[in-house]
Amino acid sequence: MAEVNAEEPATKLATRVVKGDPSGIAEAARCLAEGGLVAFPTETVYGLGANARNGAAIARLYAAKGRPAFNPLIAHVADAAAGRQLGRFDAAAERLAAALWPGPLTLVLPKVERCGVADLATAGLDSIAVRVPAHPVAQAILRDFSGPVVAPSANRSGHVSPTTAAHVREDLAGRIDLIVDGGATPVGLESTIVDCLDLDPPALLRPGGVPREAIERVLGAPLAYAPSCDEDAPRAPGMLTSHYAPRTPLRLDADRVAPGEALLAFGPTLAQGAPAAVTVLNLSAHGDPIEAAANLFSHLRALDVSGAGTIAVMPIPLAGLGEAINDRLRRAAG
Ligand code: TXA
Ligand code: MG
Repeated sequence: MAEVNAEEPATKLATRVVKGDPSGIAEAARCLAEGGLVAFPTETVYGLGANARNGAAIARLYAAKGRPAFNPLIAHVADAAAGRQLGRFDAAAERLAAALWPGPLTLVLPKVERCGVADLATAGLDSIAVRVPAHPVAQAILRDFSGPVVAPSANRSGHVSPTTAAHVREDLAGRIDLIVDGGATPVGLESTIVDCLDLDPPALLRPGGVPREAIERVLGAPLAYAPSCDEDAPRAPGMLTSHYAPRTPLRLDADRVAPGEALLAFGPTLAQGAPAAVTVLNLSAHGDPIEAAANLFSHLRALDVSGAGTIAVMPIPLAGLGEAINDRLRRAAG
């Protein structure tokens, strides 16, 4: 049974370091296309990139970071036109994008339904965070790869964000495929995150590389303030950017299924009563937590519309990504 330990990856990868020159950039784009994990410089901090449309690659990304929970990730694209394929821009978002992209600004937007971004990348939310980085190496990789790349800061969970390739290597060597060395990042702190969902005025979720004043000048109005983006701090209930929750109640740690229930299964042996369940979806028939993470939010969404009165969820071991899966299930149930 494949098991991922958050501390030590099951397979130690031979992490390669390449320069941010044309050959390094081409290798980075190739690696992303093959589902690899690529650290690359942005103008803020180094990001750890994965193909935003590859759920398994994103699950490995969370495992590499050792994240205790699945936080939604920022989708990086080369320009605003690519961003419009992922999120819906209202007038304020359009003004901010025109004035401040490319640059250290992330916009949280209503997610375009068929954008193809894996549910795990947005942690099941109907919103998506989109950013157009200005760094020439990031720009070149995004243009070459020509798809959205999710990239949290390229550090182990709980460590500080890396501003050099050496920082990335210290934290993630053996856990990722490739590091593109583009020198020290000029801004050194993360992007400013602005919520453009349906708020008037938009809200500042995380202060960062673009000062609040610059954003307010573009909008001609003060931003609301709703700090909720501390990646390792659990979000307080009632916060603006809450977590995904299905409408159908969840029953956790179920070892049997009652009539009228759907089953979210894990592992080769199904819970008792499974044949009578409304629908059965298995997170991973092999009991692989990486596969389970990649399936988590899409399976929950599918079972939520299955017509079942309750979704029974089989127990999922805490090892590796199991901790994050259990954390999300508890929030979805609560
Ligand atoms: O400068 C940056 O933004 C860097 C570089 C690599 O681009 N990235 C970065 O990512 O700081 P990360 O994962 O460390 O922080 C992303 C933040 C998280 O706090 C997350 O909660 C928030 O963005 N976020 C992502 N999607 C969101 C959404 N749909 N709604 C609200 N917050 C979201
Ligand atoms: Mg971070």
